Amino acid sequence: MYIHWQKKLELGNDMIDMQHRIQVLLCRKLDMAIKTKQSDQTIRWIIIELKKFTEFHFVSEENLMHEIDYPEVGEHALIHTELMMQFDMMVAKISHHKEFPEDLLYFLNKWLVQHVAVEDLKIAEFARHSAKRPLGEELYRQYLLHGDNEE
Ligand SMILES: [Fe+2]
Ligand SMILES: [Fe+2]
Repeated sequence: MYIHWQKKLELGNDMIDMQHRIQVLLCRKLDMAIKTKQSDQTIRWIIIELKKFTEFHFVSEENLMHEIDYPEVGEHALIHTELMMQFDMMVAKISHHKEFPEDLLYFLNKWLVQHVAVEDLKIAEFARHSAKRPLGEELYRQYLLHGDNEE
């Protein structure tokens, strides 16, 4: 099971949207690894990739919130911390065969869609109307969406 990229996940913020697409992509990669019965080691590596990227994404979102003086940065960061704790717990259970990678994927998919559509949407809305602009916001579009085609 994996999330298809869908319109409601598109929040209109280049940085957030791009990173969410990679999260969805990595969930899909994990799903492929499970379905094609890759080794436990291969699946573990993909789980680490997904975990590290999720941590990276959370830091990016938290920096963005600080840069625009988002009022609920503390609450939002706490939700991120809780997710990472649950993530770690599930990874530990998987290594002891008390949970399976499918369970992690199911949990993450549900969590991600819910979090993006409700909590992250609030950041994107706030950023859209904020007088304080996020640092280097144009760089995401410039380098990642189109490459640097200036010259
Ligand atoms: Fe997010
Ligand atoms: Fe978030």
